[in-house]
Amino acid sequence: MSQKITTNSDIKDPSLAPQGLLRIEWASREMPVLKVIRERFTREKPLKGVRVSGCLHVTTETANLALVFKEGGAELALCASNPLSTQDDVTAALVTEYGIPVYAIKGEDTDTYYKHINAALDHKPQITLDDGADLVSTIHKKRTELIDTIIGGTEETTTGVIRLKSMEKEGKLKYPIIAVNEADTKHFFDNRYGTGQSTIDGITRATNILWAGKKVVVCGYGWCGKGITMRARGLGAHIVVTEVDPIRALEAVMDGYTVMPLLEAAKIGDIFITVTGDVSVIDKAHFLLMKDGAIVANSGHFNVEINIPALEKMAQKKRPIRSSVDEYTLPDGRHIFLLAEGRLINLAAAEGHPASVMDMSFANQALCVEHMVKREKAEPRVYPVPKEIDKEIGRLKLAAMGITIDTLTDEQKRYLESWEEGT
Ligand code: ADE
Repeated sequence: MSQKITTNSDIKDPSLAPQGLLRIEWASREMPVLKVIRERFTREKPLKGVRVSGCLHVTTETANLALVFKEGGAELALCASNPLSTQDDVTAALVTEYGIPVYAIKGEDTDTYYKHINAALDHKPQITLDDGADLVSTIHKKRTELIDTIIGGTEETTTGVIRLKSMEKEGKLKYPIIAVNEADTKHFFDNRYGTGQSTIDGITRATNILWAGKKVVVCGYGWCGKGITMRARGLGAHIVVTEVDPIRALEAVMDGYTVMPLLEAAKIGDIFITVTGDVSVIDKAHFLLMKDGAIVANSGHFNVEINIPALEKMAQKKRPIRSSVDEYTLPDGRHIFLLAEGRLINLAAAEGHPASVMDMSFANQALCVEHMVKREKAEPRVYPVPKEIDKEIGRLKLAAMGITIDTLTDEQKRYLESWEEGT
């Protein structure tokens, strides 16, 4: 049962706060870049009085970002960006210990999910933080009265950036957004090492399978697909990649993986993982070919990559067999195991990306919001992260790791700037 407590909120159970506090502290140890920014924000208060609504996975890492905003003077409200990704002990700590309004309960249904988005919007944000663009899309479809006072927003993920760019293309986007996902210090690390490790973690926690010797079919070879294949190979799995893009397919081949159409891979795979951002990637035709016992999981943002309605329709029987695992029995007696209802497995069955990569992703969030608040309101477009911010985060992360690098000599700088010198 959800309960109302003093700070406006809708969370599962405030008594979980002590555990949430410890876990938030634990994550903070791996977030040194955010710590540097938090210390500066505490001194300078660059977001004083700015109302911020964030639709993010409410995890220990997000809590650390929330504290940066709070110390920076912002008035922040949070809601979940996925019905299964909320960590209820974290929401309890944020509300009861830090007085941050949070509307998020793990396992909430779709109605509650949107009720929570609307509650976060009732704070009348001047800045929006999104992970998947549900906040922006709700504002543009149903809460247009809020648009005039919004300075801008940020978007965390590939899927959200694709949605926003299509809004921009159709002339529908009404305020500027910075695409955090496009920073090098975001997608090179979060999408690759974060999704790579946490997807394996989620599938392992859900199933306790041994990866060694398994045939793992990864659908999509973007940064997330690259990370997952890299880590599954490290555990001894045989990897098959499926792609629609010829360049990415070629990359996968030259990275040493087998590439084939999913209709062929469907016959041989033990574990299938979708990370494409597209719809019905694993469809009825594929389920019909899969081996008995095939495990199917999604690590893309939305639960549309696996055609679950088709699976439900085909199945004679469905039963939960362990936490985050549903067994579907097909008419010919084969079993297919669907993980976490097709929702992103790394956050639904594990704890999402480790803090060390979220450190850089969320440093981008904090610095981009500061950038938007300080400058003139921009045209309603999707903008890249300013290069200085991206580079500064790279520098801070290296420094926190105790790693120094070389600098160009004057001669080298001159050489790079000249065109006259050749052979
Ligand atoms: N997205 C992926 N992993 C995450 C995490 N740990 N916290 C917030 N958002 C995430």
